[in-house]
Amino acid sequence: MNEKAIPVLTIDGPSGSGKGTVAARVAEELGWHVLDSGALYRLTGLAARKAGVDFADHAAVAAIARNLPARFEGGRVFLGDEEVTLEIRSETAGNDASKVAAIPEVRAALLDWQRGYAKPPGLVADGRDMGTVVFPEAQVKIFLDASAGERARRRYKQLKDKGIDVNLTGLIAEIEERDRRDRNRSVAPLAPADDALRIDSTSMNIDEVVNLVLQAVSRAGSGQAGGNG
Ligand code: DC
Repeated sequence: MNEKAIPVLTIDGPSGSGKGTVAARVAEELGWHVLDSGALYRLTGLAARKAGVDFADHAAVAAIARNLPARFEGGRVFLGDEEVTLEIRSETAGNDASKVAAIPEVRAALLDWQRGYAKPPGLVADGRDMGTVVFPEAQVKIFLDASAGERARRRYKQLKDKGIDVNLTGLIAEIEERDRRDRNRSVAPLAPADDALRIDSTSMNIDEVVNLVLQAVSRAGSGQAGGNG
């Protein structure tokens, strides 16, 4: 796939920065495809856990990633015949995803699959390494961040709204641990691309972030640079 010919917008950032929501909203506005790359790592972690595979057995986890029987249908996600739409969103699935994502062979196994999402008329790709590793030639790159406290508060509210009882202090600790693992791993660590536009959403709402991102896409479309370094 020649990613240069197809417009690609990458949105990277830590968990809870709002990138999933922003990516979905922007993709809808533009009529572009969307890649939720975190879902692939979540599915790999879940499939490994269900198969009883030890995460320390890198070759076995990578084999699972290579042969992942995943399907996306509308907003629903399946692993083989089993619907796992809600299961992959749990905190356990997020932590498992972060662990399997640190295995280089797993990242390699998922690379071509992710690049295959770049199809006309365009792609919005959300993750940790979209702008640095998977789509380094993307026309517009965003790095969306927010303070750890604010990200934990957002996750707390989401879970409470779903009727799930959680402890805010515990959530902050989990988010900080996941950040540390994602930022410090040896392959494709969470980091802004040099040419990414950085947005701190700590005191912004989703509409404001979506507007900023759409403006960056429109600037790139009219031939102006999208990033601010
Ligand atoms: O975006 P998310 O919370 O669904 O991602 C879950 C985990 O997957 C995250 O903690 C790190 C990993 N991940 C990754 O390493 N690279 C990506 N492009 C996306 C997610």
